[in-house]
Parts: sequence; C-alpha cells; structure tokens
Amino acid sequence: MTPGCGSIRNRLSIIYDDFGIWKMITEDLIREKLGTVSYPGFSRDIVSFGLVKEVLVDGSDVTVKLSLATRDPAIPRTIHENVENALSAVEGLGKVSIDFDIQDPPDPVTGGDPAAGQSSIPGVKKIIAVASGKGGVGKSTVSTNLAIALAKTGASVGLCDCDLYGPSIALMLGAQNEQPMATDQNEIVPIEAHGIKSISMGYLLSDDSPVIVRGPLATRYTQQFLRQCLWGELDYLILDLPPGTGDIQLTIVQTVAVDAAVIVTTPQEVALIDARKAVGMFQKVNVPIAGIVENMAWFECAHGEKYPIFGEGGGAKEAARLGVPLLGQIPLDPPTREGGDSGVPVATKDSAENKVSAAFADLAGSLSGSLAK
Ligand SMILES: Nc1ncnc2c1ncn2[C@@H]1O[C@H](COP(=O)(O)OP(=O)(O)OP(=O)(O)O)[C@@H](O)[C@H]1O
Ligand SMILES: [Mg+2]
Repeated sequence: MTPGCGSIRNRLSIIYDDFGIWKMITEDLIREKLGTVSYPGFSRDIVSFGLVKEVLVDGSDVTVKLSLATRDPAIPRTIHENVENALSAVEGLGKVSIDFDIQDPPDPVTGGDPAAGQSSIPGVKKIIAVASGKGGVGKSTVSTNLAIALAKTGASVGLCDCDLYGPSIALMLGAQNEQPMATDQNEIVPIEAHGIKSISMGYLLSDDSPVIVRGPLATRYTQQFLRQCLWGELDYLILDLPPGTGDIQLTIVQTVAVDAAVIVTTPQEVALIDARKAVGMFQKVNVPIAGIVENMAWFECAHGEKYPIFGEGGGAKEAARLGVPLLGQIPLDPPTREGGDSGVPVATKDSAENKVSAAFADLAGSLSGSLAK
C-alpha cells in the first residue's frame, strides 16, 4: 500500500513517525484508544459497554459518535474529557469531534441492553440492591435475612443472587440441591424457600464447578436472572451484589431501575473506605441510598456484655456523613454464621426470642419506612 493512496483516503490517514515508518489512523486504532476510557466511576470501558456507536475517520480528522442513556450531565462531560485525553496520544491526529446522543433512561421497558438505560421489572414494586465495596462484610447474610424478615411482615419478596462467581444464596437458604425449572418460553421458575423466591448460580452449578462466564456472558446471565425469571408480583426484589464496583454492578445499576441501595459495612475504617466507593457508584447513576447497615457491630457474650470487635460507631458516623439513615446494626453472632451455613437463616427464628432475628425485623421495618418516604 502506498502512503497517501487516494481510494482509501476517507477511511484512513497515513503519517510518518520520527523514523519515517508510516502509521495509519484507522477506525480500529481509534476504537483501541477509546477502549482505554472507562465509564465514569467504573472499571468497564465505553467500547465494551456499547456506547461507541460510530467512529468516522476522514483523513487525519476523527468523529466519534457516542450514545448514552443518563440524566446526569456530569457523565457526558467526563467522558468527553477522557476521550479527548485518550485520543491526544494518537500522533498526527487532526480535528477530533465527539458527538453525544443523550437520551433519558426509558421507563418502563423490558430490554436488557445496557445502552438502553435503566428499566423496571414488570410486576416488581421495589428493587433494592444490597452492596458493599468490600468482600466478606455480610452482604449475602444481610440480603437473605432481610428478605426473610420482609416476607415475615406479609410482603412478597424475591432474592436474586447477582454474585455469579461466589454465589451464596442457594446455600444460605438451604436449597442448594434444588434445580430451577424452565418453562416452554424459556422462563426460569425461581426456587421458593423460607417464604421467599430466589435465583442463584448456586442452583445451576455443583459445589466444585468453576464459573467460567466472563464479560458479556456474565452480563447476559445477570440479565436472564433478573428478567427471565418468573418473579410474579413482588413487593420487593432484593439484589445481592458481588463485592466491588466492577462490570456486573455497573450493568445492573445501568440497566435495572434500582429503587434504592442498602450499603452493608462493618464498623472499621478499611470497610468504610470501600463502602464509600459503593455509595459513590450508586450516586453516579442516580440510585438513592436507602441507608447503611452496620454488620458485626459488636459481639455479645453469654453474660450480656458487648465487645466492639471491629470498632464502634463506624456505621453511624458514615451514615451521618452521607446524610442517610443507619438502617440497622447486626451483632457478630456465631449462630448467625451457623444459620447461613446450615441453610436456616437466623431471621426465620422468632424475633421475640432471638435478638439477631429481632435486629433483622427492625432492619426490615426501617427499610420499608425509608422507602415509603
Ligand atoms: N453478623 C454476623 N455474625 C456472624 N457471622 C456473620 C455475620 N454476618 C456474616 N457472617 C459470616 O461471615 C461470612 C461472610 O458473610 P457473607 O457471605 O454474607 O459476606 P459477603 O459480603 O456476602 O461476602 P462476599 O463479598 O464474598 O459476597 C459468612 O460466613 C457469614 O456467615
Ligand atoms: Mg456475598
């Protein structure tokens, strides 16, 4: 190919670097650079997320067309800046135009396309995401017991285990040997246990089978769990999110109209730092924070003395800082761990006789109160 070849002028531009070796500005090169631009606040890039609709190369000039579904003006502004920065590394690049097609997130629709914006799930009144930045602070324990405590108030409740790589819900509900059925229309029938409906990768895999879904496939599984499940009429659908603020969380909060997020943290600073990241993630996509749950808040010995193993007051301080309620405090309680392992969650116990079950009942009450506001 001769540098400057006329017939391909509109598709690419050829320039020389310091050593006289020619390089081309191609659509692929531009897309490669755009692939280094993350969606604000998340690890996933704008190309893999499907936001880049068109890249036009005209000589050394480039036009990038992006499509976004957001109501937050800061998002396109940040993306614009980061795209400009990423492309400034391309030598010989001429004029760069960045065009945005910004739409309001449609509501309600049933599609699962992340670029289509957030949408509700038909029949589900409130979708609650339970999240934390940090792993192992008790999201799944809180999700499971909160779901059961809400169901005990007479609400119809579903629990979706969005943690594909470390699913815990099937085990915590003692239903790991159940196999969800599919209807002729390929809808998944959720498993019913302890008065709630649930779906989890744990129902589909044996204990030792690794989850090998990655990237877009993981997104598809999550979408299927959320949208192809026969949830029926639900007052609450609780989403147990995996730890962190990565692709799965991004996809969920971008595609599902989450009504509120519950942030689980333990009292110590290292957990609070990560909790703040999770709060930031929800704020970026305009999901309100219902409040904070402080888990493992203290250990109460047989004589009734309380020991703040992981420190004291961290949850309350963080809630005050964010201006959101501290929805509940759950003690560090060995029978609660045993209940999770044996598939009989502590919230199934009579709350008049069990303090932790009572704490989850209180949490259910404060959450429904907070949502009603
Ligand atoms: N209040 C509690 N008292 C005693 N044990 C608890 C409590 N909360 C959680 N645990 C135990 O701590 C472990 C981690 O809890 P869990 O799996 O709920 O955390 P997670 O945040 O969902 O973890 P991951 O980030 O891996 O999803 C489990 O063994 C669970 O039984
Ligand atoms: Mg978990």
